[in-house]
Amino acid sequence: MAKPKTRYMCQACGSEQSRWQGQCPDCAEWNSLVQESAVVTVFSARHDLSSGGRAVELVGLDAEIAVPERLQTGIAEFDRAIGGGIVAGSVLLVGGDPGIGKSTLLLQVAAKLALDGQRVVYVSGEEAADQVRMRAVRLGLGHSPVQLAAATSVRDILTTVGSGEPPALLVIDSIQTMHSDLIEGAPGTVSQVRASAQELVRFAKSRGTAVVLVGHVTKDGTIAGPRVLEHMVDTVLGFEGERSHQYRILRASKNRFGGTDEIGVFAMEGAGLKQVANPSMLFLTERGEPVSGTAVFPAIEGTRPVLVEIQALVVRLASGATPRRAAVGWDSGRLAMVLAVLEARCGLSFATAEVYLNVAGGYRLSDPAADLAVAAALVSALSERPVPSGAVVMGEVALSGEVRPVAHGALRLKEAAKLGFERGWIPASLEAPGAMATTRFAKLGELVDLVIGRG
Ligand code: TYD
Ligand code: MG
Repeated sequence: MAKPKTRYMCQACGSEQSRWQGQCPDCAEWNSLVQESAVVTVFSARHDLSSGGRAVELVGLDAEIAVPERLQTGIAEFDRAIGGGIVAGSVLLVGGDPGIGKSTLLLQVAAKLALDGQRVVYVSGEEAADQVRMRAVRLGLGHSPVQLAAATSVRDILTTVGSGEPPALLVIDSIQTMHSDLIEGAPGTVSQVRASAQELVRFAKSRGTAVVLVGHVTKDGTIAGPRVLEHMVDTVLGFEGERSHQYRILRASKNRFGGTDEIGVFAMEGAGLKQVANPSMLFLTERGEPVSGTAVFPAIEGTRPVLVEIQALVVRLASGATPRRAAVGWDSGRLAMVLAVLEARCGLSFATAEVYLNVAGGYRLSDPAADLAVAAALVSALSERPVPSGAVVMGEVALSGEVRPVAHGALRLKEAAKLGFERGWIPASLEAPGAMATTRFAKLGELVDLVIGRG
């Protein structure tokens, strides 16, 4: 038998190392490696696995599909984001920045389900039961029969909810505060988070209780704890937004029981989160006189179009200091790429200028179809010439400077037309957009010429 191997696990990123080091070679965090319980590696031909097991049932792809039972929470935006309701026995992980509204959202979901007659248990490891109750009263949900507890021991929690009829929903707020007595270590460490989640997942699967785990998010936006947490659960949701803005978006990044393309939109108000059923106009600022440095992009979220304003600011630097590039709501690597194409293919220079890019309203864009709108905002900011206020801009920009077609072009333009936009700035190759007048671009240079008035 092989010797037990000692392994060290980084408490920050979850990577495994074979020896202790002061700094994690994967994420560069200091003093984060902790010895894991010894793992025995057995590798021997004597252990033949081809006999002695239990035969598992094999079925064909065409076998009857059992449609999973879904709990409708009654909060349509929540149900929409997770693919049409919570599947019984599934485990959801909800991540998001501190203070963004995770506890508020889940308390509202829990209260609503409990009012519908389901057994719902909400366990807070962060707040006292009184604090949670006070919040419920503030949300106007004080009369909901949710069963509350302040606890952090997974054994205590599962012993409690395991007696009697299993709850339809168990909310754990948050997984980082939980601890399992099966292993050593303080709550929040990688091994504790993993062990606690494992116990909770097992409970969900064996009892048919849907479990929602709230997860903290680290500085770089990933859910704190081991990466395996995301593999263990069925659905991973992010609750996004800027704290200083009112709007919040619930978005699935993984979903074993549905798509990941629909979002739920909420507004944080005095009495909790309100659903926003028609979000198309939310991320536009008041549009009066056209101003330079802005462009409107018709985004698509699942089946719903959302118009978002992209804002750019270009500041010329007198000195030779290294200019800053910052992007909020848009990938900074993609900003660098669009800038590089504008420089290399269109003869513009941003070399001595600071460049800031912002997506209005705290919205986050990841659709490459927004490239052309980003470019239009940048060129407009640089030249101080506005993009016409009635235009929406879409197109993917290739490194060659070509403007590539985008998905759902016609749908995007149709919605923009409904909201009063008159002209689409679109890729030349986009087929029959129908709804409005268009200006077509095959190359990014053509858009640059149009904005800066170069003929
Ligand atoms: P919370 O749900 O505690 O966030 P998280 O669990 O993600 O850390 O929400 C905290 C913020 O929400 C807090 O700053 C106050 C604000 N809030 C409202 O604006 N209205 C409300 O009705 C509630 C309950 C909270
Ligand atoms: Mg909270």
